[in-house]
Amino acid sequence: MGLDSQTPCYEIDSSEVDMEESKLIGEGAYGEVYLVKWRGTEVAAKTIRSSISSIEIVKKAFLKELALWQKLRHPNIVQFLGVLKNPDRLIFITEYLRNGSLYDILRKKGRLDQQTAVAYALDIARGMNYLHQHKPHAIIHRDLTPRNVLQDEAGHLKVTDFGLSKISQKRDNGYKMTGGTGSYRYMAPEVYRRESYGKSIDVFSFALIVHEMFQGGPSNNAETGEQVADKRAYEDSRPSLSSYIYPDPIKMQASPRMLAQEPRLQTDIRRNNRTAGDDPTGSAI
Ligand SMILES: Nc1ncnc2c1ncn2[C@@H]1O[C@H](COP(=O)(O)OP(=O)(O)O)[C@@H](O)[C@H]1O
Ligand SMILES: [Mg+2]
Repeated sequence: MGLDSQTPCYEIDSSEVDMEESKLIGEGAYGEVYLVKWRGTEVAAKTIRSSISSIEIVKKAFLKELALWQKLRHPNIVQFLGVLKNPDRLIFITEYLRNGSLYDILRKKGRLDQQTAVAYALDIARGMNYLHQHKPHAIIHRDLTPRNVLQDEAGHLKVTDFGLSKISQKRDNGYKMTGGTGSYRYMAPEVYRRESYGKSIDVFSFALIVHEMFQGGPSNNAETGEQVADKRAYEDSRPSLSSYIYPDPIKMQASPRMLAQEPRLQTDIRRNNRTAGDDPTGSAI
């Protein structure tokens, strides 16, 4: 499929990328991601699966992702580089992140040490803050999951995959948007319930990822993502917190307010403290 005539400088001539010499590095909803060389440099190529590439709605979604992604520039956002001028396929070229996704890292390592978990959390938070502070309108990612966070060679994390992202139409949190989209396991209750929602849905997903980094996970792994989302939306179910795992600054920030709001948490904390033999005051999260 050709791009319209307005498509500017980020078009890359297909002769500069050897798609035959490619290595499959990831698979997602609409297609595959390959490691390819562009003028001798390793980059990632995100493509639509050829069996569905002619479906109008798929093409539209891909073009929407392109329109949004090409505007983004931040050290913690995977850098969009261009789009391949290809007569029959749309292909995005982005920077290649050699260390793979946070999902792969967590699967390999399980729980992370405090220092690493905090550093990773800050990387993701900075990328997400850039999206949420985007001008003139905030961008809501809507599918923040460990699979959509990648790591570069230096160990820094970057947020990717803007296939479900939306530009909000108001500056504050009061806009209305509905629709059940994203990965169930990291989905905010209001999205699952198909209520109106704002950028705080990304904060919910972020908190679950942070929890997973500190505690290992994902939580409720025996259940399907949809079951987990259903319980969170309709039974107010949340992952339990083990006080001994979290660093002091987080405990101090979180404890008074959370304890006041969540009496159930106190029971969890006492139980966990007994197990961990730590913090007998129960003042930690
Ligand atoms: N730039 C990249 N560098 C390395 N791996 C990548 C890159 N982009 C994507 N991947 C891998 O491919 C997977 C799918 O890519 P993603 O952009 O999330 O597509 P989808 O929209 O299909 O989920 C990611 O989870 C990751 O494992
Ligand atoms: Mg993805």
